[in-house]
Amino acid sequence: MEKKYLIIGNWKMYKTPSQAVDLAAEILKAGCPENAALVICPPFTHLWGVAAVLKNSAIALGAQNMYPAAEGAFTGEISPAMLKDLGASYVIIGHSERRSIFRESDELIHQKVKAAQEFQLTPILCVGETLAERESGRDREVVAEQINTALDGIDDAHLVIAYEPVWAIGTGRTATPEVAQEMHAFIRDLLKKRFREEGSQIHILYGGSVKPGNAAELFAQRDIAGGLIGGASLVAEDFAAIARAAEK
Ligand code: PGA
Repeated sequence: MEKKYLIIGNWKMYKTPSQAVDLAAEILKAGCPENAALVICPPFTHLWGVAAVLKNSAIALGAQNMYPAAEGAFTGEISPAMLKDLGASYVIIGHSERRSIFRESDELIHQKVKAAQEFQLTPILCVGETLAERESGRDREVVAEQINTALDGIDDAHLVIAYEPVWAIGTGRTATPEVAQEMHAFIRDLLKKRFREEGSQIHILYGGSVKPGNAAELFAQRDIAGGLIGGASLVAEDFAAIARAAEK
């Protein structure tokens, strides 16, 4: 079966709302190959404007975070119901920057995955080990713990996993295709145990310094079904070139 690749742009805290509208239009214009689907995840404040640009297009909209409640006295937070109303269909959960800078725990991440699914948002669950964890041989143990806690008691396979080794994010140091594939295969096994047949359909994406020059060899790996792209998703041409790498 041919893979349908999922290429997701994580814009992080970049671009002003009006710049975001322009970038979304450029990405739309750059097009996308048949066997790839694109998602862009701008900051919350940009969702409204970007949604208008993407309306009736094949590019889906996602958010970078959310709070796991429909509404309430949670100053400064954004709910899944709000994201849904804005036209988002995906939400990034547990990105390593949120885990490290904002001290998000696996338990909170679990609550977020659950809430996202309740509101029909597809959670993009991010997992990955630090350099110290890899060097001490604990990389699989860490990733398994992140996945098992986040998905505890969850039987809905409607989710995406992004494997992003922390040492590869924004560093220019990409995991080799072999290292990435090894972890992806390990994650695939975990998902199959948990969700049985449905576990083999879940997209497992690689993230961490994916660029037009290294995307094709990563995407050629058996268990890599696309990418979560940070820096390179802020340049329409680069993002389009990464999507085209799915064709090779
Ligand atoms: P990067 O970021 O592509 O800039 O390394 C990836 C991510 O953080 O999702």
